[in-house]
Amino acid sequence: MNDADILNELIATAKTNFSQSATPADLENAKAQFLGKSGRITEFMKGMAQLSVEEKKSRGAAVNLAKQAIETALNERRQALAKAELEKQLKAEALDVTLPGCQRVQGGLHPVSLTLERIEDIFGSMGFDVAQGPEIETDWFNFTALNTPEDHPARSMHDTFYVEGGTENAPNLLRTHTSPMQIRYAVQHVKKHRALIDAGGRMPEIRVIAPGRTYRVDSDATHSPMFHQCEGLWIGENVSFKDLKYVFTYFCRTFFESNDLVLRFRPSFFPFTEPSAEIDIQFQSGPLSGQWLEVAGSGQVHPNVVRNMGLDPEKYIGFAFGMGPDRLTMLRYGVNDLRLFFDGDIRFLSQFQS
Ligand code: PHE
Repeated sequence: MNDADILNELIATAKTNFSQSATPADLENAKAQFLGKSGRITEFMKGMAQLSVEEKKSRGAAVNLAKQAIETALNERRQALAKAELEKQLKAEALDVTLPGCQRVQGGLHPVSLTLERIEDIFGSMGFDVAQGPEIETDWFNFTALNTPEDHPARSMHDTFYVEGGTENAPNLLRTHTSPMQIRYAVQHVKKHRALIDAGGRMPEIRVIAPGRTYRVDSDATHSPMFHQCEGLWIGENVSFKDLKYVFTYFCRTFFESNDLVLRFRPSFFPFTEPSAEIDIQFQSGPLSGQWLEVAGSGQVHPNVVRNMGLDPEKYIGFAFGMGPDRLTMLRYGVNDLRLFFDGDIRFLSQFQS
């Protein structure tokens, strides 16, 4: 065999060995057999020592070419193995980019909570305090103190949920309205200012709203056994029905952002107010334009109730109202079924997030 044949065979064997190397480590071992210190190319060059200068030159050139060819084959195989390795890894860690991502969903306030916040803001701007009270009430605060004694026919206006506790004649109950907060708040307020009141001084006015959950045995598209109310109370030495009209008109116009909204005070009956009125509102534009919509009960606080607050009804007078935040929310957003508020359906609720 001449040199060229030997070298060509070397190249061919190297290529075969390289392509049979399945891992980078195998490949580096195969490389050593050809290009390493005691590899076959090195061996081949050792035999050149006795050759003439001319022969060394031509052989050296041939050996270099062979070396280059082997190196090229080696690099190609290195790249092929690296590529295969990468592909294997990509396959193992494959991602389906068409799957929906894991996003963290932003929660938000319930539409009725948004309404309660608005109510608190608007009345807050008129100097009203915000008070919270218990949902399990005694008969005294829910009825008796509010001028609704036992056997009073007005009690049957409320379909009451009774609970354990209280006395046999006056069991505890789930409050049927937020009006018990009139008494609870006023009693605390009066207690705080008792000395001043007794000395004939000027008691700071009672001005409060009390939002919260209320309960009645009732359930249909516009009634839920649990619903919300927001009580309002303003008591002073000179607070009149005129102030009620002003305050409630201002509230409704601000709440609905409608300056031409009209209010109607329709005579009604509540044991704890005299005179009493239902408050109806009427929009002058929009889908509900022209209809009278009932939003609250109201009236001048009954003297017996003022007395139960610990105040002299000859000196202190004022008004109260009780409105339905659920109803206000339905009107504001055009919701026609109250039950949607309590189903917890995220498709409904997410429409109210800003
Ligand atoms: N508590 C009454 C109701 O639930 C509403 C009301 C509150 C009326 C305050 C007058 C004054 O219907």
